[in-house]
Amino acid sequence: MNIVVGVTGGIAAYKTVHLVRLLTKAGHDVTVVPTEDALRFVGTPTWEALSRHPVTTSVHDDVARVRHVALGQNADLVIVAPATANTIAKITAGIADDLLGTTLLATEAPVLLAPAMHAEMWRNAATQANIATLRARGVHLVGPADGELAGGDSGPGRMVEPEEIVEAALALIAPQDLVGVRLAISAGGTREPIDPVRFLGNRSSGRQGIALAADAAARGGLVTLVAANISGDVLAESRHPSIRVIAVGTAAELATAMTDAATTADIVIMAAAVADYRPASVSDQKLTKEQGVLTHLELVENDDVVAALAAARVAGAAPEGQTIVAFAAETSESADERRDRARRKRGRKGVDLLAVNLANAEQGFERHDNTVEIVGDGGEVVASAAGPKREVARVILDTVRSVR
Ligand code: CTP
Repeated sequence: MNIVVGVTGGIAAYKTVHLVRLLTKAGHDVTVVPTEDALRFVGTPTWEALSRHPVTTSVHDDVARVRHVALGQNADLVIVAPATANTIAKITAGIADDLLGTTLLATEAPVLLAPAMHAEMWRNAATQANIATLRARGVHLVGPADGELAGGDSGPGRMVEPEEIVEAALALIAPQDLVGVRLAISAGGTREPIDPVRFLGNRSSGRQGIALAADAAARGGLVTLVAANISGDVLAESRHPSIRVIAVGTAAELATAMTDAATTADIVIMAAAVADYRPASVSDQKLTKEQGVLTHLELVENDDVVAALAAARVAGAAPEGQTIVAFAAETSESADERRDRARRKRGRKGVDLLAVNLANAEQGFERHDNTVEIVGDGGEVVASAAGPKREVARVILDTVRSVR
């Protein structure tokens, strides 16, 4: 999507740096349009480096491409963060004395404002009247939050956190095609304890599963996210009122949580990397070299969670029409071989769709980007996606929608 981020002159502009990063990471094409005042807080090189587009405040640059209206015309969404009291007043009056003003007047895309100002300015009758007018015209607002403000005051007027702005933004542009649909999504990688300090684990960061949960929630879905060992910063991207997180550690814990969530889920997505084996016994004391017991580890096989969920569906223990998606990380360099393995794996597990990706030291795990092919129940590749994991998530959910 083409997103214009307007930045106006408030100290919260430093938080907008993170907002632009989150939006570009999610695969959006972001153009930053600061006001002159905003550049006193964060400068042009920062915005250009983050957005990879030239940045100007003036309507007189790039006149040949009528930039002063083209940006607004081509935008799918315009965000203004922070939106100061002054800018809010100017937008209400339709003043277009800089590039942000002309862009806002020229756009027919949704507009989202994230106000930031002192509590008195926010409560002022002029600001409140402007906000009421803008709301009546269909302008969207996120925040302001109540909290500490610059200068030590506190009250309403603090710009909400970038993650909350992203959530509000994506909800405006995402199709609302999963409203009321219940999803059970697993993410991350299980850890099978050996002793109190060691485990058998894998490199899954949980990012692809988190991206699926976030995209599903933005589209109106109600998500139970079973999160196996996901770090706090990755998990933060799934903060949404429609996402309920259940933290698990081992494959057995994940199996219990997913089995429970799947009994009411319309869509089940197993994005987690589940350990196929666990140590036969877990020592309650740290194993030592003196004991010489770490050279051989006896393993027992874990249940295949997704295969069991598919079997439960066949047995009628799942909502009518439930769709089940599995993942496979394959290391073969040959695309044909990966597809063949994916076809066999899909049939073996009894799932509707299987998303297969190439995983090696450079690709797949611990990265923001992913490349997947989705194999359908006839064994054919029904869709493919490459790019940021949020974009891949969007394609996977589109494909799920198309087979339901
Ligand atoms: N999976 C599962 N339970 C397990 C292992 C895997 O539900 N005990 C799920 C994963 O979440 C994923 C899919 O099965 O959606 C594919 O996992 P993968 O490890 O590739 O499949 P395996 O059947 O273990 O095949 P392989 O021999 O290639 O490891």
